[in-house]
Amino acid sequence: MTIRVRPRAATDLDACARLLIEVHGTDGYPVEGVADPVSWLTPATAAGAWVGELEGAVVGHALVGTPTATDDAARLWKEREPLAQILVFGRLFVGTAGRNRGVGERLVRTAMTFAAEQEQRLVLDVMDKDKAAIRLYERLGWQHIGTTTHHFGQGNRTEAHCYVAPS
Ligand SMILES: CC(C)(COP(=O)(O)OP(=O)(O)OC[C@H]1O[C@@H](n2cnc3c(N)ncnc32)[C@H](O)[C@@H]1OP(=O)(O)O)[C@@H](O)C(=O)NCCC(=O)NCCS
Repeated sequence: MTIRVRPRAATDLDACARLLIEVHGTDGYPVEGVADPVSWLTPATAAGAWVGELEGAVVGHALVGTPTATDDAARLWKEREPLAQILVFGRLFVGTAGRNRGVGERLVRTAMTFAAEQEQRLVLDVMDKDKAAIRLYERLGWQHIGTTTHHFGQGNRTEAHCYVAPS
């Protein structure tokens, strides 16, 4: 099957929102829920966003953005490398029908290339329950830099792992 990763267009947002609602139902991602998927997909911090296609149909999504004060992975990496230029990777998902064909890997690699071209280091956090994503990041050489507690909703919490991309 033909895989293509390309920059996300505004016209992709409806398809991405539908996929996200599906992924929340199957995987509980994102843990915050999907009450307003388009807002979640278009944070003010966004610096780049991509969709993954299989045979011309959008099946996946990824985004990088500038760090906010609550980004644990950015904070942890800044403690080690105070001068680091950082972008945060996230909002990665592939609908179940498109999985296990390399779309997720292509999305992550595309974001890694984008950041490297701008001499920025990518960091991320991933919930402990999201094992397929953790395997993907580790397969691509991301380095574990710490574990934190992610707080969400009405007093809920879950363990999250922070990673930095290979330089
Ligand atoms: C994590 C996620 C994006 C991975 O997407 P994906 O498109 O399935 O990823 P890939 O296809 O690149 O890799 C998945 C598996 O397929 C395998 N694979 C890749 N291409 C393959 C092929 N052509 N044939 C057979 N297997 C293949 C990979 O080796 C990998 O194996 P593993 O599960 O043993 O590690 C997806 O599972 C997902 O959306 N999960 C829920 C959301 C989530 O957790 N997001 C993370 C946020 S931080």
